[in-house]
Amino acid sequence: MSSISNVSENTPHILILGMGGTIAGLAPNPEENPLQYQAGQVGVDALVAHVQAVVPEGVKLVSRQLANINSRNLTDAHLTSLGLAVKDALLDAAVKGIVITHGTDTIEETGLFLQATCGKLAHTQSKRVILTGAMLPSNAPGADGPSNLLDALRWASTSIDNCPGGIYAVMDGRGCMAIDLAKRHATALNAPLQNAPSSSVGLINPSWLSGVKAVQAAWNEDLPIPQEGEWPWVEILTSHAGARPETITQWLSSAVKGLVIAGTGHGGFHDDWVNPLDQAMAQGVALVRTTRTGAGATLRNIPEVDAPGCWASGALTAPRARIALQLALNASTQANKAGKPLTWQDFFARIADLPEIR
Ligand code: SIN
Repeated sequence: MSSISNVSENTPHILILGMGGTIAGLAPNPEENPLQYQAGQVGVDALVAHVQAVVPEGVKLVSRQLANINSRNLTDAHLTSLGLAVKDALLDAAVKGIVITHGTDTIEETGLFLQATCGKLAHTQSKRVILTGAMLPSNAPGADGPSNLLDALRWASTSIDNCPGGIYAVMDGRGCMAIDLAKRHATALNAPLQNAPSSSVGLINPSWLSGVKAVQAAWNEDLPIPQEGEWPWVEILTSHAGARPETITQWLSSAVKGLVIAGTGHGGFHDDWVNPLDQAMAQGVALVRTTRTGAGATLRNIPEVDAPGCWASGALTAPRARIALQLALNASTQANKAGKPLTWQDFFARIADLPEIR
């Protein structure tokens, strides 16, 4: 979709990319039932116009609608177009920072995707990319979208306490690295970063900042953005009491390229899955274990020794591990085509082994 602004695109500006979500949602009866609404109804221009009068003096804004969806419907193609738009903007001297308005349901996937494909570029270009969204639709009393958008615009456009270029997120007055997003509450205003190591947006906390710098130092090279049609098919399967082997065997005749197991405890799975998963791996399906507990790291060979080739997700949640596996499988395919014998595990480990901010 096209871009709109009242400034020339050559004037230094902040670029706002609209993806939809509750921040762009409308409720038919906002006073009586603000939580019954449709996401992705209001254009990003209107969201920006609503806060334009209070953005810091001299900051010019350009907005572009890339999608206007409920983020539960986010597709591989949306990620490709967002990643390419962010990359272009990072390389554009007129763009000083980037804000992305996004649904919170899958903002954690987009956060991981952008870090893995554009994180190094954002760092070296000294530009901040800030994801934000809202938990209340735009016409609800006390809607949180305008203040979140304003915080994101301020953070993208100022040099608050020397916070380096990179991929971040802002909700409810706090900021975190976008790789730490994980929506773990259905309604709280800070749901996507409730459990993330974070800092108040206006007052960067030094211990958080040193964690950010450690992640930035460890992230050496962005992975390629898969083009449409290049995204490998990867599914998440949850192990549970009463799990059946058929949950795995039904995939053996499919074109699935990877499975992420949201396992119990340390990322374990039901004994009835062991043989079918071995068979899947023998057929070339990539296997990653993570934990369904919602917190803590999943470590290799803990508590049992992993089957050869099976990888543990580290601190990646299942949704993040799924995107990481898709990117790793694609990166390995591209590397092999270029004559480099790198496996998906080589690429996946680069993401899973990033230092954790505490
Ligand atoms: C969505 O993810 O698009 C809907 C939910 C939200 O933005 O909070």
